[in-house]
Amino acid sequence: MFYINSMPYLEACIREQMRVDTVVPLGVPHRAMTDTKIGSYDVPEGTMISVNLTMLSMDKEIWGDPENFRPERYIKNGVLDVASDKNLPFGAGRRLCAGETYARQSMFQVFAAFMQAFSVSTADGKPLKKPSRRIQGIITTIPEFWVKLTPRT
Ligand code: HEM
Repeated sequence: MFYINSMPYLEACIREQMRVDTVVPLGVPHRAMTDTKIGSYDVPEGTMISVNLTMLSMDKEIWGDPENFRPERYIKNGVLDVASDKNLPFGAGRRLCAGETYARQSMFQVFAAFMQAFSVSTADGKPLKKPSRRIQGIITTIPEFWVKLTPRT
């Protein structure tokens, strides 16, 4: 069993990865149940509403340097500072992701065990030349690629 508080950098890396690549960029579509207002917009009953989660994860005013992969932004004095993670990859409010706790725990446990067992590199050992193409649907994926896993001794 691995514990988040004793491995803050791993948890920070997972959070930062979820920020730079929003898994569900437009969340799950919702429908206005009644005529309502969002900010200064009138929203008639029946309108489909999607929240742009990528805008939040890439907001310069929140992150300062959103384009950089920088897990340290969630660590204060060597301790994980969850409050500094303003990202909402699982949505928010009444209909937020029902699997958030399970998904966060699973990602942490799987990556901790994986990184403890293997060293990971690109298949040819050379740095990647550019970020991969994104395949956009309700979730973001990338084309298949090969990695090299070397068991840690
Ligand atoms: C990294 C993994 C995951 C991400 C990024 C993710 C993200 C999301 C997002 C953005 C929503 C829409 C929330 C909203 O409308 O505000 C959602 C809804 C939902 N997710 Fe996930 N999810 C993940 C994993 C899971 C898992 C593992 C489960 C189940 C075990 C799950 C079950 C659900 C369900 C049931 C809803 C609909 C909730 C509702 O409408 O009341 N998700 N998820």
